Amino acid sequence: ARSFDSSATSTQTVSVSLYPGENICFAACSNRLTQQDHNMMSTSQAPSQSFNGDGLTVGMFDSGLGGLSVLSAIRAHLPLSDIVYVADSGFAPYGEKSDSFIEDRSRFITSFLLTRQADVVVVACNTATAAAVHHLRQKWAHVPIIGVEPGVKPAVAHSRNRRVGVLATPSTLRSKKFQALIDNHAQDAYVVLQACAGLAKEIELGELDSPRLRDLVETFSAPLRAAEVDTAVLGCTHYPFVQNLFKQALGNAVEIVDTADAVARHTTRIGERLVTMRLPEQHKTTRGLTELWSSADPAHLAKVARSWLGLDCPAHPLPEA
Ligand code: DGL
Repeated sequence: ARSFDSSATSTQTVSVSLYPGENICFAACSNRLTQQDHNMMSTSQAPSQSFNGDGLTVGMFDSGLGGLSVLSAIRAHLPLSDIVYVADSGFAPYGEKSDSFIEDRSRFITSFLLTRQADVVVVACNTATAAAVHHLRQKWAHVPIIGVEPGVKPAVAHSRNRRVGVLATPSTLRSKKFQALIDNHAQDAYVVLQACAGLAKEIELGELDSPRLRDLVETFSAPLRAAEVDTAVLGCTHYPFVQNLFKQALGNAVEIVDTADAVARHTTRIGERLVTMRLPEQHKTTRGLTELWSSADPAHLAKVARSWLGLDCPAHPLPEA
């Protein structure tokens, strides 16, 4: 297998389409660690200037803290949108739960987000997207519901040696949706699938450099190293928070793909369309506020949002039905 030329330029940009009918420009991260890598925004681009989010309330949820990586990208693109974020940490991890459990939680949380005036709902969780997004779209056909999925397509497009690794939860990897993604986009590439049981749960603790976390990352990286992949997909929204550990375990030459920025761009386009099409009497103003809700400990969520994203905002207990 070929390996990356370590003298290559630090950022390479490839154009990919993650959503049907749309071509999303996507910057793959460098083969050297930069401050930006540490900030988990390795695939980010300059936010779009056209729409600042005014008038849009974005509802989002994840099994827990992972969706904060998507929140960070959405906040950068939509500074004036209000964002309501639910961390279902009391029921995390989803990745080792049944589809029907994930569906029930996803329905419950989506319905809560709509009571908080969400105009769009971002399922900021690969696992919940795979298990539940089609049910949510059926139930709330009038609401744009945006899912996330592992960046297999950009990774295959970007890989030079046609060897790609996908790191995701067991539930995502066994889902029909993921199987279809592989069938449609893996092309001729050799794709190594690595289920990372227990990793999201460890990240939920909020300590990003614990020996246990390093051990898990090392364990899950070993098969990718053995397969000599040159590109690794972070197929769970929790994993960007340990991207630097993966970089260390996989080697700096391996490109890491995370789709948070592509999801934020898609949300921006959908949101802009929605706000532009409103009748004058439907007009509303937003102020760029973020509100957090947790089914576990709101103080833990607030603390993590402050330390991981530099976000200071109120966190509340998620009311259960
Ligand atoms: N953050 C989630 C994902 O993107 C799920 C992690 C979990 O709860 O297992 O898949």
